[in-house]
Amino acid sequence: MLIRRPPDIKSSEITPERHYFNRRELLRSAGFIGAGALLSQAVAAADGIPASHRRLAGVQRWPGSLRDAPNTFEEITTYNNFYEFGTGKSDPAEASGRFRPKPWKVKIDGETDAPGTYDYDTIVKPHALEERIYRLRCVEAWSMVVPWVGIPLRDVLKRYKPTSRAKYVAFETVVRPAEMPGQRSRTLDWPYVEGLTIAEAMHPLTLLVVGVYGVELPAQNGAPLRLMVPWKYGFKSIKSIVRISFTEKQPPTTWSMSAPDEYGFYANVNPEVDHPRWSQATERRVGSGIGSLFAARQDTLMFNGYADQVASLYTGLDLTRNF
Ligand code: MTE
Repeated sequence: MLIRRPPDIKSSEITPERHYFNRRELLRSAGFIGAGALLSQAVAAADGIPASHRRLAGVQRWPGSLRDAPNTFEEITTYNNFYEFGTGKSDPAEASGRFRPKPWKVKIDGETDAPGTYDYDTIVKPHALEERIYRLRCVEAWSMVVPWVGIPLRDVLKRYKPTSRAKYVAFETVVRPAEMPGQRSRTLDWPYVEGLTIAEAMHPLTLLVVGVYGVELPAQNGAPLRLMVPWKYGFKSIKSIVRISFTEKQPPTTWSMSAPDEYGFYANVNPEVDHPRWSQATERRVGSGIGSLFAARQDTLMFNGYADQVASLYTGLDLTRNF
């Protein structure tokens, strides 16, 4: 992954103190939090998310959410990796104005008894939406805490009837160079592709994300549909998905094709396996401390803190070789 050295970080990227936690505490003491279904709307409104972002209705709280203070909406939507819009952290927010996430269709093919091209509503509407606060750990050693809104991926996949030969699930991002300026240069081989084993895809933590902070996903975060696999490095969580294929063989993945010595298929967060060019033992929580340069580092957790739930998926696998 291209990683910029500190002198390349613009002062505009140095994030302000977080306000969300205080507002959340205020709401909690005022009795708003704990009220259940309408939590996201209450918090989103209180956090001053611009009205241009459409609120998602009927979002349920998920009991497993992290208790850590989430990053602000501004941090989550202005410090991004989405190379289709450019390689800088502020490029996705600044260069995604032409991107149109609606109408949206997803092709579902491969080892399935229900192949076809389905529109967004057909895929999403039958499901209840959940707000899940997860850690996000980028392979570049920064992290955030994000209140995603989505559906367990397995609930969606089951409706599309994978056959017994489906051992993996492959995902593909849209290709629209007219709307995605980063795709006009060959920084990566487009489309961006990713994959999971069927067990990872069917794990209850794996989320198909449609929103953040109770509103529809902004373009820079992967509108209208992206993946969130919280125990893996962020690059596995592919954005703006237009194709889901059930496969018998392990599918190719963008970063492992681009730099096979640096990025593997599994990409599980692991503080004991360093990236060839930097340590993975610690991370910088975006928004912590007094700015990007001086932020305190914190220890990275095995499987990003989700070891109890996911370690059994990898029993007998050498995590050093299968990185
Ligand atoms: N998906 C696509 N299609 N293109 C990308 O460049 N970047 C990945 C991932 N998904 C990326 C992508 C990386 S490296 C990270 S860390 C996360 O998206 C960042 O998600 P966020 O910008 O919503 O925080």
